[in-house]
Formats: sequence, structure tokens, C-alpha cells
Amino acid sequence: MTANVTWKSRWTFILAATGSAVGLGNIWKFPYITGEYGGGAFVLIYLACILLIGIPVMIAEIMVGRAGRSDPVDSMSSLGQAAGKTANWGAVGAIGILAGLMIMMFYSVVAGWALDYVAQSLSGSYHQAPVEQIEKSFSELLSSPYEQLFWHSIFCLITASIVAGGVTNGIGKSVDILMPVLFGFLLLLLGYSWFNGDFSAGLHFMFDTDFSKLTSEAVLVAMGHAFFTLSLGMGAIMAYGAYFPGKASIGKTVLTIAALDTVIALVAGMAMFPLVFANDLTPGQGPGLMFVTLPIAFSNMGGGQFFGTIFFALVSIAALSSSISLIEPGVAWLEKRDVKRVFSTFGLTGIAWLGGVACIFYGEVFNALDYITANIMLPLGGLMIALFVGRALSKNTVEEEVGMGTGMLFKCWWFVLRYLAPIGIILIFLNSLKLI
Ligand code: PFF
Repeated sequence: MTANVTWKSRWTFILAATGSAVGLGNIWKFPYITGEYGGGAFVLIYLACILLIGIPVMIAEIMVGRAGRSDPVDSMSSLGQAAGKTANWGAVGAIGILAGLMIMMFYSVVAGWALDYVAQSLSGSYHQAPVEQIEKSFSELLSSPYEQLFWHSIFCLITASIVAGGVTNGIGKSVDILMPVLFGFLLLLLGYSWFNGDFSAGLHFMFDTDFSKLTSEAVLVAMGHAFFTLSLGMGAIMAYGAYFPGKASIGKTVLTIAALDTVIALVAGMAMFPLVFANDLTPGQGPGLMFVTLPIAFSNMGGGQFFGTIFFALVSIAALSSSISLIEPGVAWLEKRDVKRVFSTFGLTGIAWLGGVACIFYGEVFNALDYITANIMLPLGGLMIALFVGRALSKNTVEEEVGMGTGMLFKCWWFVLRYLAPIGIILIFLNSLKLI
């Protein structure tokens, strides 16, 4: 049973949820999509989505998990039934579990690249190497399935070993160690970038706003990324919420998590772009930004071998604390059905591993999984969760469970969750389908 297990403290919950939120999304994806969609204006829309859609939905997700005290499927179906509505709401949780596995499929491949680059940086293989060689080394990795397979498998194994250890001893203990290391590494890199990079060019790139570059596709990607980066819309945070100790207010906890995630995305950008600009490189080159442009920058700079290693270790840690939350919802669901945690963990990770193999051999699978999960499944899941809490459950239940009192704070959240967030999501969808 999952119901009796809780995190050691509210702080461990915050670390676990922040660990889930902070990942490849912040360090790999955010900087390169910011590059692709033109910088400042994109960042602004992304921040608006975090504030007006992400934070309200995150409060709703944690509330459902804590009130249901079970996996996402059972929490949603039992709360739905208790409210006199249908138990079919559990389907939202089930689709979320599927989305988690689908994300894990491509996520673990990119995490594998990061592990590969830890090894490469350590061995100094790109240190002071010519630009062409560094570019070639990434394309060689992409065209060498067995090298990718090796690191992808290692990453899946590490993830599964942690999740199999259980909530308190596996996930809880590892985030207690991993997250402080992650914060420390990030600060170190920010300092390095401050002294060695072109900081003002980095700032201009991230915060100068040029709305002419803002297409409807860019707005959809910004919203999708808000969900992706906060791990919303698929039950990860809901599953973690089920182990939330006590009845503390969820609002403050969520603000801490969202603020940490956003600050870390911006700091990661500020640790990368100044190095890119100081080396006369350009950031708008897609997923290769982290694996080509940055190694080129590091290769030219004093201390580059050490800081390059730190950087890719940071990326790997961030990916790991997220991947465990991609598997946990499914594991919790199977655990309720009396499947032993070890079996369910290795079984589900095995399925994700197979999907990863498909991503390695067929680039289209990789891109499709990334696009469908982030831009469609997560926002739709978020919409359903907003509708569930804002409209299917009774206001009294929600008021009591969310623990934010009955004052202004609650009223604002309730309004945003019932109107602003769902309408925002629907409008962005319609707009991207060119229907409005
Ligand atoms: N939030 C993670 C990131 O930004 O890398 C990705 C993620 C993890 C998405 C867990 C969804 C999730 F459930």
C-alpha cells in the first residue's frame, strides 16, 4: 500500500518535487528552444504560462494526490466518486502514467548523451580540440547506436535502482543528497560564466523582447514547456503529493518549487549563453546547443576540462532526479495492485528502455515523442486536472484539502483554476491549430 508512506519532512517533498521539475527541460531544452524561438519574448510568454497556468495546476495536482493518498489513477477515481461524479476521472491518471513512460523513452536517451559527455570531459577528449572535431564527435555519437545504447541503459539502470528502493529510502534519500550537489554545481558554473563569459550579451539575448518573432507555434511551445518543466499534467507531482506529510498549506510549497525551477532555468541559461557568446558562437542551433556549442566553448577556456565535467555531471544529476518521477506514478499504481516494487520498477523502466532503443534507431520516434508529450499530452492532462479540481470536486472539499484558508489567496487560485487556466490552455491549442 502506498497510503501509509510519507516523505521524511515537507522539505524532502520540496526537494523531490524540485528534483522532478529541474531536469533536462531546464538545462538542455529551455536554452535551445529559447534560442530557436528568438529569446526574450519567448521567455516572457513562458514565465506568464508558469504563473497563470503552471502554478495553479501544480497546486491542484498536489491537492489531489494528498487528498486521495494514492496513485494518480486511484486518487482521481476515488475523489471523483466521493464527489458524486464518475470514477472515470481515473483515466486522466492512467493517460498520465502513459505520458510519463513516453517521456522517459526519449529523456533517458538524452540523459545517456550527458553521461557520455561526463566521460568525454573527464578524459579530456574535446579539450583544446578543433571545432570540426567537436562537431564531428556529437554527430558520431548520434550515428553510433551502440554507444548511445550503452549510456542509455546505464541511465535506466540507475533510475530503476533508486525507484526500486522505495519512496523514503530510495527516492527520498537520493534527492536529499542529489539536490544540494546540483545547486552547488550550478552556482559554481554561474561563477565561471560570470568571470569567463560575455554576461551582458547573455542577458540581452534572454531578456530583450522582440515580439515579431513570436509565432503561434512559439506560444504553444512556451505553454508546453511550462508543463514539461514543472512536471505537470501527467501525475508525477500528484504521485509525490500522495506522500506529503501533514496538512501544511500547499500554496507556499508550490511557490517554492516553481520559483526554484524557474530560477534554475534562468540561471542555467545565464551559465551557458555568456560562454557561447564569448566564443563567438550562436545559440539558435537546436538540441546540439548543449552538446556541441558548449564543449566548443569549454575547449577554448582555462579550466574548461574541469568545468565541462562539472557541467555534464550537473545535467546527469538533474536528469536522474526527474526520471525517477517519470516512473514512480506507474510503480505506485502497480503497487496498489500487489505487484512488488522491484518487479514493477524494472518492468516499467524496461518498457521505457525499449522505447528509448526505438528513439536511438529512429530519430522520428524521438521527435514525435517529445512533441506529442510536451505540446499535447501534458497540457491536455493539465486541462483535465484543472477541470476536475475546479469543477468536478465540491468547493468545500477543495477548500478543506488545499489548506490555503478561505481568504484572498484561495479565492485568486480558485478563480484562475476555474477560468483563466482552462481558457488559456484551450485558446493556445485553438490558436496553434490555426482555428482562431
Ligand atoms: N520536469 C522535467 C524537466 O524539466 O526536465 C521533465 C519531466 C519530469 C516532465 C517529470 C514530466 C515529469 F512528470
